[in-house]
Amino acid sequence: MGSSSFKQWTTGQDGIDKIQLGEAEMPTPKDGEVLVKIHAVSLNFRDTEVCNGEYGHHKSLGQSSTLVPCSDMCGVVTESRSPRFKSGARVLSIFNQTHLTGQVRESDMASGLGLPLQGVLAEYRVFPADGLVACPEYLSDEEASCLPIAGVTAWMSINGFQPLGQPLDFTKGGNNNNNNNNNNKDEVPTVLVQGTGGVSVAGLQIAHAAGLRTIVTSSSDEKLDRAKRDLGASTAINYRTHWAWQDAVMETTGNRGADYIFEVGGARTLRKSFDCVAFGGTIACIGYLSGKQEEEADPEGGGGGAGGRLNVNVMALRRNVTLKGILNGPRDRFEEMLGFYRSKGIRPVVSKVFGFDEARDALRYLAEGKHFGKVVIKVAGD
Ligand SMILES: NC(=O)c1ccc[n+]([C@@H]2O[C@H](COP(=O)([O-])OP(=O)(O)OC[C@H]3O[C@@H](n4cnc5c(N)ncnc54)[C@H](OP(=O)(O)O)[C@@H]3O)[C@@H](O)[C@H]2O)c1
Repeated sequence: MGSSSFKQWTTGQDGIDKIQLGEAEMPTPKDGEVLVKIHAVSLNFRDTEVCNGEYGHHKSLGQSSTLVPCSDMCGVVTESRSPRFKSGARVLSIFNQTHLTGQVRESDMASGLGLPLQGVLAEYRVFPADGLVACPEYLSDEEASCLPIAGVTAWMSINGFQPLGQPLDFTKGGNNNNNNNNNNKDEVPTVLVQGTGGVSVAGLQIAHAAGLRTIVTSSSDEKLDRAKRDLGASTAINYRTHWAWQDAVMETTGNRGADYIFEVGGARTLRKSFDCVAFGGTIACIGYLSGKQEEEADPEGGGGGAGGRLNVNVMALRRNVTLKGILNGPRDRFEEMLGFYRSKGIRPVVSKVFGFDEARDALRYLAEGKHFGKVVIKVAGD
């Protein structure tokens, strides 16, 4: 390999097993851009979908051809054409490169890393300096790489309706700013996260650090034990052995329900979330791990065994629920989140680190759901 070339993985969106390690010409940053040497890349469920050609629900993105997968990286600026970051600065990518503040716009979706834009599973990449944030010093490259999608999505699921700069924090004897309609000033809200993947574990960490009550579901008793032991989860429910986990949520909350629900399950979990959300609570619609299409008759039932089509209208008004589609979050909320992480000393949970040459194994490992928290690929560095 010549000094003006570097290694990168590409996918034809035709299967994880077919991703290719190749070489590319070293790019040169233009005005407003920086060249970054990538140290660590964390994987998201989305990356497995992209590599398998299954990421088709955002119609506007299309199914472009060969591309470098993945979006979340921690690296170091090696050449700068922007006053925003000097050479040597440690940086993190933001997922939608143009989403800097406010609600995400459809046009921002065209700036997503790892589809439709070229991603970060490479030794080097040029970024607009605006598409990066400064990396907190106290985190390792591997830890910090976990934050752009998983951390920010979890942050927005809890704090998306809070004013910027005033996240929920009940650790100082009450919320520092309680103009959130959901919560009575004296009542500590409960956050329910589904599963122990990247977003949910980040949600547990954020909620616990903010002094909120936490409930976690998982298919594994071992992972549930870990969530309680290491992350302070108040209640842990196995959704395989307790398929009616919504009843357990109601029981453990004294029939109040959960104020914030991380809906990562989709087709088979949404009904249950409606059955255990608190009055005035928020269901953050994040993912669809149990399927994108609701089945005509839910084999697991729900709401006391009733199956059939979900009438979202009735379910939402029954308890004055806010159903919020979450699409990551803007740069300013990412920076707000980093301040919170720093002040609370939160370290993202890295389940396993793979070498750069082992990217295929890493993606397979994530797709098999063996992890707790995040799976990371170490690209370079110490
Ligand atoms: N909207 C957004 O901005 C956004 C951002 C990130 C992710 N997402 C979506 O959110 C979902 C999770 O992403 P991720 O990156 O955190 O995934 P991940 O790390 O791969 O997490 C997967 C975990 O979810 C749990 N799970 C699987 N099926 C489940 C079910 N039916 N009910 C409850 N939990 C279930 C499993 O946990 P256990 O092993 O503990 O059972 C599994 O290990 C994906 O659908 C992803 O596309 C959306």
